[in-house]
Amino acid sequence: MMQQADYTRPGLGEFDDVADYYDQLMRTVPYTRWVDYVERLLEAWSKSPIEVIDLACGTGTVGSEMARRGYAVCGADLSEPMVRHCADREPPLPALVCDAAEMALTDGSADLVVCLYDSLNYILEPERLAQSVAEAYRILRAGGLFIFDLNTERALSIGLFTQDNMHTDEPLQYTWEAHWDAAKRICRVDMLYYYNGEGGPRSFREVHYQRAYDNDEVLAMLHAAGFSRIKAYSAYTFQAVTPRSARVYYVAAKE
Ligand SMILES: C[S@@+](CC[C@H](N)C(=O)[O-])C[C@H]1O[C@@H](n2cnc3c(N)ncnc32)[C@H](O)[C@@H]1O
Repeated sequence: MMQQADYTRPGLGEFDDVADYYDQLMRTVPYTRWVDYVERLLEAWSKSPIEVIDLACGTGTVGSEMARRGYAVCGADLSEPMVRHCADREPPLPALVCDAAEMALTDGSADLVVCLYDSLNYILEPERLAQSVAEAYRILRAGGLFIFDLNTERALSIGLFTQDNMHTDEPLQYTWEAHWDAAKRICRVDMLYYYNGEGGPRSFREVHYQRAYDNDEVLAMLHAAGFSRIKAYSAYTFQAVTPRSARVYYVAAKE
């Protein structure tokens, strides 16, 4: 049975249904290579963080991988159904349910805030993203670093999220259809899922929204929050952002 939900409010219920299948869905995502890249960025900034916040941690893959590498990591994410899975990781990831713009964490309590996999694109209001950037600044110690990625307008506007795996024998099949609203700079992805594995068949629908932010806009937010030594890279490189970049990594220091 398709679940009935109110999808007229962007952001409502995103990840609620898919949370239990998220790790299965993402099992080919090269998370360990992403953490390798984060460590190369840390090296380039001459930082050796101890206490790390995995912001928008989801089910905790990045945070748990960092914990395995010796960092003291705590996750934070808006979605309780996603956070619930952090306890199942090896090692388990302690995690809080909170909004990036209002984190239940004390001032100056982290050496690194890391936020991967286009999580901040899910914040649809620029003021709210600016507030989240200011929150990251607040919870960092002097000397701390904020590293996050964002999908670019190019990635969100060319239909990359229109995809499916309906012709496979995966237990979780899906079909996604992306709609780009150029005026609002928002990509809506209508997602249909069909599960036929343990516990019997079920289907559900989710609607995800991601907003594109200009590089200059993001850099201005980081400056306004107080960050310095700010860099933007085309993802997984140390190259400058180009019009063809699909994902950008931002690195910013609190001095
Ligand atoms: C694409 S998932 C990425 C999860 C995880 N970082 C990963 O790499 O697997 C995006 C995550 O961002 C979270 N998220 C979206 N808006 C948020 C907000 N305002 N504050 C905190 N987390 C948020 C969602 O709940 C979801 O878990």
